[in-house]
Amino acid sequence: MALPPQFLDELRARTSMQALVSRKVRLLKSGRQWKGCCPFHGEKTPSFYVYDDGFHCFGCGAHGDAISFVMRADGASFIEAVERLAGEAGLSVPKPTPEVAAREARARDLHGVLDAAQAAFTRRLHLPEGRQALDYLLRRGLTPDTIAGFGLGWSGAGRGALAADLRELGIEPAQLLEAGLMQEREKGLVDLFFNRVMFPIHDRRGRGISFGGRILGDGQPKYVNGPETALFSKRRQLYGLHLAREGVFRGARLVAVEGYMDVIALHQAGFTGAVAPLGTALTTEQLEALWAVSPEPVLCFDGDAAGARAAARAAEVALPMLTPERTLRLATLPAGEDPDTLIGKQGQGAFEAVLGAAKPLAEALYTLLAEGRRLTSPEERAGFRKRLSEAAARIEDKALGAEYRRALLDRFFAEGRPRNGRATPGTSPRAGPIARPVPGANARSDQARAMLACLLRHPWFIQEVEEALGLLELPPGPASALRDHILHMPGHDSALAAEALHAQLGSAGLGRELAWALAAPALPAGARNGAQPAEISECFWHFFSRLKGSEALQADLSAARREAEQAPTAEALRRVTLLKEALDAYGRGDPTGVEAV
Ligand code: UTP
Ligand code: MN
Repeated sequence: MALPPQFLDELRARTSMQALVSRKVRLLKSGRQWKGCCPFHGEKTPSFYVYDDGFHCFGCGAHGDAISFVMRADGASFIEAVERLAGEAGLSVPKPTPEVAAREARARDLHGVLDAAQAAFTRRLHLPEGRQALDYLLRRGLTPDTIAGFGLGWSGAGRGALAADLRELGIEPAQLLEAGLMQEREKGLVDLFFNRVMFPIHDRRGRGISFGGRILGDGQPKYVNGPETALFSKRRQLYGLHLAREGVFRGARLVAVEGYMDVIALHQAGFTGAVAPLGTALTTEQLEALWAVSPEPVLCFDGDAAGARAAARAAEVALPMLTPERTLRLATLPAGEDPDTLIGKQGQGAFEAVLGAAKPLAEALYTLLAEGRRLTSPEERAGFRKRLSEAAARIEDKALGAEYRRALLDRFFAEGRPRNGRATPGTSPRAGPIARPVPGANARSDQARAMLACLLRHPWFIQEVEEALGLLELPPGPASALRDHILHMPGHDSALAAEALHAQLGSAGLGRELAWALAAPALPAGARNGAQPAEISECFWHFFSRLKGSEALQADLSAARREAEQAPTAEALRRVTLLKEALDAYGRGDPTGVEAV
């Protein structure tokens, strides 16, 4: 609904920023403005400034007006924020069209029906007929406060009991049909839920939209969920989101888990940012809803093969949507546990540890893509590399996609061949040989080491890169020493075997530097014995280009091109080719990659 700008200006003018922000942040007067600790990032010294007409954080860059403050601080939508502020300022929001107004009124009524049903179910839970259900919930470790906080209830035995309860409030069975609480059968309207523990489902504002109902003990189906209605869309909602929004604002981590009971057990254990999809895999709409609350939610998956598949699927869905401000972490549960059972058996510390070990998406993605793959033959390795590139290419944010590509290939080249040639399927991301994290794969000295290892293992390749290598700036220490020796070796020829080169280095007093460069386990793919020439070359140029940096490469390339135009000698043309190769290695797959970095 578009609102007139005059109205919004009036609303801003009538809202005191200082009073609004003071509800969330302790503010101190500072000159003509106010300042306090930023509510949007953790900080101990105030860098959050509040002005008459807005706020700005010099720490995290958060910036906006009263409306955006309410949106961010309360996770409100634009229209919610406007309505809230208007209510406080005594303004009425300009009316929408009659059709929209009518639809909103019907929705309001429907929320009323669901809230009334929740009250009826809760009442029944505490009647003798609900005794079994209440005992069941208590036996599962829920406290009376938790049961009340989540509005859990007992459906009753069905046969129109709910309709009878609600008729007293003037609610008709037809409305129960519309609310997804009854269904149409030949004999008329019948209850959807009977003999079930009732879990009310709320929208992000905490209004009732549907229910899930669990059977007591074992039996099928374990959960019955309400159908799609005007209010309820399984794809769009997340169980517990209204509570998690509040939890996240108070500093909790936003965590998506699988089930209703997991969400409830987590909140009870103090993880107040827990939510769950409604029995389906996470959808794009649900990811959007998560990102509206936190820039880096954690998705938590089972520690079995099905969990790994679910994680891979979620990553797949999320990739195109990622931006530098919106990402994910993936966490893995111990095999055979869900958050509820884990906390029940081992306490909240065990889940704390799961969250603590959550991997940034880029890291988890590599493991997920490697899962179950053999990576021994050149074909297998090439296939895997293609898959890494394709995954990065699915990211629509080009600069971010280029970074992902680089991070994934860094790891690919840095890891070389797994010892047993196989990533173990169905194990936790940390267990497979592929998954071994590369220590400091981004540090310059590690890049230099990986690059030099290719040459030290395959000396025939040195003459191909001699010139480029000579002009490269390297970190002082072993890398520089090795490079200098390699370039000034007396009369090296292409036949020089690795052993001979190593012996030479030994007698030149560079034994320790050599050992540094070839230390297992972090040998890159291009340094494997038996690596194919193309692989050695790609691996070398990959690390070379990282060390060189795109600007320097670009400048060198331009200079080389000019030179080649003036004097197209074989030497000059070769230089252009090499630099192009290095630049390609740097920005491959990303048309804007060179400029973007
Ligand atoms: P789970 O089977 O893991 O259930 O299903 P749970 O949440 O751990 O429940 P408890 O601990 O056995 O009571 C995870 C989620 O999948 C949906 C529900 O949303 C459930 O919370 N589900 C599961 C259904 O919709 N229907 C089913 O029959 C089973
Ligand atoms: Mn469970």
